[in-house]
Amino acid sequence: MLEVTIVYSSSQNLLTRVSPSQLAVSVRDSTKASHLAEQGVRVAQATFDDPSSLREAFKGGEKLLLVSVDNSENAVKQHKTAIDVAKEVGIKTIFYTSHIGADLNCPFLACQHHAETEEYISESGLQWYSLRNGFYNEGLPMMLNNPIESGAIYAPEDGPTSWTAHKDLAEATAILLTDESKLPKDRGNLVPLTASDAVDFQGIAEALSQVTGKAINRVVISDEQFLENTVKCGLPEFVANAILGIYKASTQGGFNKVDPLLEDLLGRKPETVSEWAKRVYG
Ligand SMILES: NC(=O)c1ccc[n+]([C@@H]2O[C@H](COP(=O)([O-])OP(=O)(O)OC[C@H]3O[C@@H](n4cnc5c(N)ncnc54)[C@H](OP(=O)(O)O)[C@@H]3O)[C@@H](O)[C@H]2O)c1
Repeated sequence: MLEVTIVYSSSQNLLTRVSPSQLAVSVRDSTKASHLAEQGVRVAQATFDDPSSLREAFKGGEKLLLVSVDNSENAVKQHKTAIDVAKEVGIKTIFYTSHIGADLNCPFLACQHHAETEEYISESGLQWYSLRNGFYNEGLPMMLNNPIESGAIYAPEDGPTSWTAHKDLAEATAILLTDESKLPKDRGNLVPLTASDAVDFQGIAEALSQVTGKAINRVVISDEQFLENTVKCGLPEFVANAILGIYKASTQGGFNKVDPLLEDLLGRKPETVSEWAKRVYG
């Protein structure tokens, strides 16, 4: 039995490869997974803050797709709880959704959390794979903040980033979960899943200009200006600082890695920034 915590798109992809009776999902709010329950998937309601609920949810599972929690101050503690429970109930293999920039010294806090979690899984004695996913292009609209209306992307200096689509990652994750022979033999436990190119915000402005037929400029603003603007939009200062960490990390080359594995697994090119721009703004 495969145990999958959340990520509904991965579950839908898995259902094209395994029968519903082989799949279980663990969610905080079971109504969100009612469509999976209707298809015969076992849906358990559990939270990383309550080990006993996880014990019930993970029971009988062989493989666990542990979907990481984003940027929460409790993220590492919550991941550790899930790993401990997985070990306790006899799960054999953990797949963990990490980040291509996972590093204990990364200025982006979430990437430090991923590195810490990877270290903990590696010490668990379980078989494990860390899916080092490229930065999700789904997060771009929030970062770009209405570029079509304003005619510009206002953001601190950034660096090339391998912006990667959820749908490609969900499909590749389902392939790896159901066919471990597809796991690269030469990379150990770390499995990089990224788009084929790394593009900075200048490149994104050009893709948006092409798709919309409107000139979208790239305007670099200072870190101070960014923090002021973000707090004015209603975000707490610590969140604004956490987002600033993304820019710092990307200028240091933290998110620029690309790897052919995702393309190999999908049998097609992963979504490019131009295709993303067409899908979202076309
Ligand atoms: N942003 C990026 O570019 C990027 C890149 C690589 C990797 N990642 C990692 O990939 C992860 C998954 O991304 P995503 O887009 O699927 O994010 P997401 O939709 O926010 O997924 C996070 C999930 O964690 C669940 N969760 C939060 N707190 C929990 C708790 N206490 N107990 C149990 N479940 C809890 C949430 O459940 P609810 O549905 O109940 O809210 C949510 O479904 C991210 O969290 C991040 O760590 C992100």
